[in-house]
Amino acid sequence: MNYEVVSLPESHSLAYNVALRLNKELVTPKVQEFADGEIEVVFEPNKFNQKKVMLIHAPYGNVHNALVRFALLAHSASISGAQEIIGIIPYLWYMRQDKSAVPGRVGAWQIIAKLLEATGISQLITVEMHAAICEQMITVPLYNIKLRVLMAEHIKHVVPECKQCCFIAPDEGAFNRAQEIGQVFNMPVMVFKKKRFDVDKTKIISVSGSCGYDTVLIVDDIIATGGTAINACDKLREMGIKKVYGYFVHPVLPGNAIECIENSGFDRVFVSNSIPHTFDKQSKFTIFDISGVLAKKIKELV
Ligand code: R5P
Repeated sequence: MNYEVVSLPESHSLAYNVALRLNKELVTPKVQEFADGEIEVVFEPNKFNQKKVMLIHAPYGNVHNALVRFALLAHSASISGAQEIIGIIPYLWYMRQDKSAVPGRVGAWQIIAKLLEATGISQLITVEMHAAICEQMITVPLYNIKLRVLMAEHIKHVVPECKQCCFIAPDEGAFNRAQEIGQVFNMPVMVFKKKRFDVDKTKIISVSGSCGYDTVLIVDDIIATGGTAINACDKLREMGIKKVYGYFVHPVLPGNAIECIENSGFDRVFVSNSIPHTFDKQSKFTIFDISGVLAKKIKELV
C-alpha cells in the first residue's frame, strides 16, 4: 500500500510496534540538534514520493518540545514529497485547558489546535481524548479512538476480582468511561467529586454511590502528578477497601510522580503505552499496548 509509517526517535517504542503490525518498516528522519536547542529534521529528498505519511508521535517529557518537534517532522515530511500527512498523537496535550480562566475567552487548547492545523496535517488521530468539546475547536478532522473495549478485555485478564469489584471515577469527568467499563462487568460505579485548589493540586469533596465490595478499580484517562489517583486511593482505603487497582490511559507521570505512586496505597496500576515509560520488574505499574488499535485505524485510512 502506498503509505509510510514515520516517527521521531522518542516515539519509537510505540511506532515500531504499529509498523510491525502493518508489515511496514518504520521510517525515521535524521535529527540534528544545534547548540541553541533548535533542531533540523531531515528525510532524503522526495523520500515519500507522493505517498500518504502516518506520523506517529508519542513522546514523554516537555509538551512544548513535543509540539514543535511534531511540527518540524510534519514540515519535513511535506517537503520530502508526502502527498498527505496524517498525525497520530495518542495523547493530545492541552486538552485539559479547553476553557479559559477568563469567562467567554478561548482556552489554551484552541491555540494549540491552531498550531496543529498549521503543521499541514490533513487528519489527526488521538486516543481517549480528555474533552469531547475539543473536537469542535480544531478545523482538521479529529478522530478519537476509544479504548473501552480493549480496556475491558485487558481488565478481564489482569484483575481477577473484576466480577466482584466496584469501578471508581476519581472525578466527575471520568464518570462515563468508568460507567461504560463497569457495565461490561455489571458492576457498580462510584463517583468522586474533586476540587482543584492550586496548580496540580486537588482534593476530594464528595463521594456518590456505594460499593459493597472489598476491591475497587479506579479508572481515568490521564494520570499526571498522580494527585487525583492517590487522593482517591487514600479515600478508598479510609473507607475500608482492601484492594485498589488503578487503570489509566495516558501516563504523563512528570517529575517524581512514579515514585509517589509506587509509595502509595495502590496494589497495581495499569497504564497504556501512549506515552513511553519503562518500569522496574517490582514496580506497581504494568503497561497495556495500544499499537493494535492504532494499526487497525491506519488500515482503515489507507
Ligand atoms: C482531569 O480531569 C483528568 O481526567 C485527570 O484526573 C487528571 O488530569 C489527573 O491529573 P493528576 O494526576 O495530576 O491529578
